[in-house]
Amino acid sequence: MAIDFNNESMIFSLHTRHSTYQMQVGQFGHLLHLYYGSRIKDEMDYLIRYMDRGFSGNPYEAGLDKTYSLDALPQEYPTDGTGDYRITCMTIKNTNGTYSCDLRYKGHNISKGKYNIPGLPSIYANKDESDTLEVFLEDATNQLQVTLYYGVIENTDIITRSVRVVNCSKEALFLEKVLSANIDFLYGDYDWYGFHGRHTMERQTQRSKIVHGIQGVGSKRGASSHQYNPFLIIAESKTTEDHGNCYGLCFVYSGDFKAEIELDQYNQTRVTMGLQDEMFSYQLKTEASFYTPEVVMTFSGVGLEKLTHNYHDIFRNNLIRGKYKSMPKPILINNWEATYFDYDGKKIIDIAEQAVELGVEMLVLDDGWFGNRDGDMSGLGDWTVNEKKLGCSLHTLVNRINEMGMKFGLWFEPEMVNEDSELYREHPEWAFIIPNRDPIRSRFQLVLDYSRVEVVDYIYGKICNVLDSANIEYIKWDFNRSISDVYSRSGTSNQGAVLYHYMLGLYNLLERIVQRYPNLLIESCSGGGGRFDAGMLYYSPQIWTSDNTDSIDRIRIQEGTSFAYPISTFGSHLSAVPNHQTGRTTPFETRANVAMVGSFGYELDLNKITTIEKDQVKKQIVYFHKYWDLIHKGDYYRLTSSQDKQQFAAWQYARRDGSEALLCSVTLEIHGNMPAQYVKFKGLLPKYDYIDMNTKKRYSGKALMCAGLPMPFMTNEYQTWQVHLVKVQ
Ligand code: DGJ
Repeated sequence: MAIDFNNESMIFSLHTRHSTYQMQVGQFGHLLHLYYGSRIKDEMDYLIRYMDRGFSGNPYEAGLDKTYSLDALPQEYPTDGTGDYRITCMTIKNTNGTYSCDLRYKGHNISKGKYNIPGLPSIYANKDESDTLEVFLEDATNQLQVTLYYGVIENTDIITRSVRVVNCSKEALFLEKVLSANIDFLYGDYDWYGFHGRHTMERQTQRSKIVHGIQGVGSKRGASSHQYNPFLIIAESKTTEDHGNCYGLCFVYSGDFKAEIELDQYNQTRVTMGLQDEMFSYQLKTEASFYTPEVVMTFSGVGLEKLTHNYHDIFRNNLIRGKYKSMPKPILINNWEATYFDYDGKKIIDIAEQAVELGVEMLVLDDGWFGNRDGDMSGLGDWTVNEKKLGCSLHTLVNRINEMGMKFGLWFEPEMVNEDSELYREHPEWAFIIPNRDPIRSRFQLVLDYSRVEVVDYIYGKICNVLDSANIEYIKWDFNRSISDVYSRSGTSNQGAVLYHYMLGLYNLLERIVQRYPNLLIESCSGGGGRFDAGMLYYSPQIWTSDNTDSIDRIRIQEGTSFAYPISTFGSHLSAVPNHQTGRTTPFETRANVAMVGSFGYELDLNKITTIEKDQVKKQIVYFHKYWDLIHKGDYYRLTSSQDKQQFAAWQYARRDGSEALLCSVTLEIHGNMPAQYVKFKGLLPKYDYIDMNTKKRYSGKALMCAGLPMPFMTNEYQTWQVHLVKVQ
């Protein structure tokens, strides 16, 4: 059992292979956090110092003891109204208008297996690999019961957290803030990594020193967002890729979130993560319960790359589901950048014919195939096939493509509606609009109210009609605006809960589709990577990483994305040059190598490429088949960092048994009389020799890792170089 409880010291110890997490029921029943770090067997309550501190109050029962203050003590689930003035996890508005909530230990339960969260995506694990701790807390005054859930997946060094709140009183109260996790560090100099960005430039890595005050990230856009990913790393200040202590917190949720860090007056660091509390006010009726989404935490004592491997392992093995969990996904061609809205059935067949000849396995028909949709001003919501535009039924089109030997995939944007659509004309009350106000339009579309069951049911029916009409093996699930004007015309008085219920509605819809079509591959998308999060990965094993297909920008985007999310989940396409987003021209080979960091595909008019490039496409497809297993299942290493001044970018995959590795680099800058560049490998076995399969030269693993290889002299920027190493038996 990975979870221990000592009845005498009242200490809980959660052990994973390399980490220990500890908390203690304090003398007054508060749950105090003791330790999170390298695995140890000691009880760490000796770390806590009790001191009389000015302006830090004491609970009443402490009596004459002025040294016990929740304003200074490390806690497991701090709440507002207890004399802790730091950021907290919970704010309750009681019926009498007060904001107090004081949670005390009532009991606990330890069991084999991992808990589930009703209606929300979460890590799954079987009984042999996981354990659950439930700690029951209660506020005796307002009769609020809170259960803290801890899932321990021992071998992957993962601890998950979630919270359940039950109102056992006779009156409704309001949850104004309910986060999922808190970690208190008693001391230490830490940096934090955040992944910020914008549309077409998502998940840029930023490392900052944690300073006094509150810092952090969040989203109020109704989606996890392009702007801030729901993922944080806290790293001791000297931590590097392969050295030092670091901690990750990743939110399994695709809507609004908040992740904050506070360095307090006593130089203690508090980190919290959970639902965004702004515009959230959840009326919890008598006997009703509320569940928070899950936070997945990990600790690495040997730097960031191990933290990354922990996340890649848990997400690949215990979050992603379905047929494509461990299978290669079809190499696809998407018509968007080739045609935008301007196509008909013939053009699509032309693209498919070209593509199948080169070995492409699936055609994805993007936006524009339904309703009155020849631009972005109309049609969303009308999920009926525009047979006039296609020149035939979808069934006929898909059959023709299948007959060529290709699979077929289709684009949807199920959460949106244009005012110029049949659906909106029939049901204007299904869109988010605040009464007596004009709504904010974005890409001329409004957001459907997925907090309403009838809306979700209707869209489900429409999607099923289309999916049942033809052999559709993939859908791209898009979401192209931030949510605003949140108001449900369902008659609910719980308007502050609407965005949370929206997410439950979305997850319910996705779950029904996943269950009904177990062989369907869903690629989630939000104008590229605006909803690249662990919540969506539960339903879609692939996410369109960015609308930016420029290789050089993609290197940075993919680097940031790689810290938490497995490479297999990155939707990545080779596109035309000059690139449609940046105007940059990069070599065909470089575009392929960068797009192979992920689930590979093409997004260009194949009629416009040269015969030499066509030949390259054939080779690339063979190449990707050869390496997909190493790329998708191997350990990923960032060999360079966008945080440094870089003349080249390099990354690498290695099988965990050290038998094979693949390195890829792209030259970012060229200058006169360039110094030689070197690159060191990772994840090899130092005592074995390796053959460079290109040059057939033999090197020891130790030499490759300690001294590396010189890179070829590049004569142009954006050139690429790859090395494939195979261990000598
Ligand atoms: C945004 C997506 O990210 C694009 O790839 C494309 O599908 C468009 N939407 C279509 O409207």
